[in-house]
Amino acid sequence: MATQSTRRGRRSWAVYLIIALVVVFLGLFLFELLTFGISGAGAGSPALSDDEILALIADANPENGAQLVVQFACTACHVDGAEKGIAPPFEGLSVNAASRQPELSPEVYLYRSIVNPTEYLVPGFAPAMPQDLGDRMTDEQIADVIAYLLQQ
Ligand code: HEC
Repeated sequence: MATQSTRRGRRSWAVYLIIALVVVFLGLFLFELLTFGISGAGAGSPALSDDEILALIADANPENGAQLVVQFACTACHVDGAEKGIAPPFEGLSVNAASRQPELSPEVYLYRSIVNPTEYLVPGFAPAMPQDLGDRMTDEQIADVIAYLLQQ
């Protein structure tokens, strides 16, 4: 009898331990989920300040940006001339980028709409932008693309 209750005692300790571990892992998971949701940009490089964005774009290369929008398949969704495509055409961004979120400079608006695309949605479009561009592209590549978009 004595040995049986000790065994039972040990077994319930194991159950408590497993429950505790599950609770800890769930907590960690929720924490990750929440911080991911808040930062939006995920685990990649931290978002740049407005001044850093402007400085990068001042040095950027729009010709390279024109190649990058093909290389990163942006133009698969952003089709110039498409009346009602999956994504708004890049055409007109030299004007539109200033008016989408008037409190932001066109450069900062474009940076955020690439790195954190769900923060603001162009009216009439679904949130179809890839979420990981900030991780897949370097800051310089993003700046080159923005310099190109500002000429469209
Ligand atoms: C799978 C389709 C898809 C791909 C690929 C894609 N986008 Fe988009 N993009 C969208 C959609 C849909 C919107 C409109 C909804 C929104 O604002 O996120 C959008 C919005 C934007 C905007 C805001 C445009 C505006 O008129 O204000 C910019 C800038 C942009 N995308 C840049 C890019 C760049 C740069 C790439 C490639 C590195 C890219 N997108 C790849 C679907 C896509």
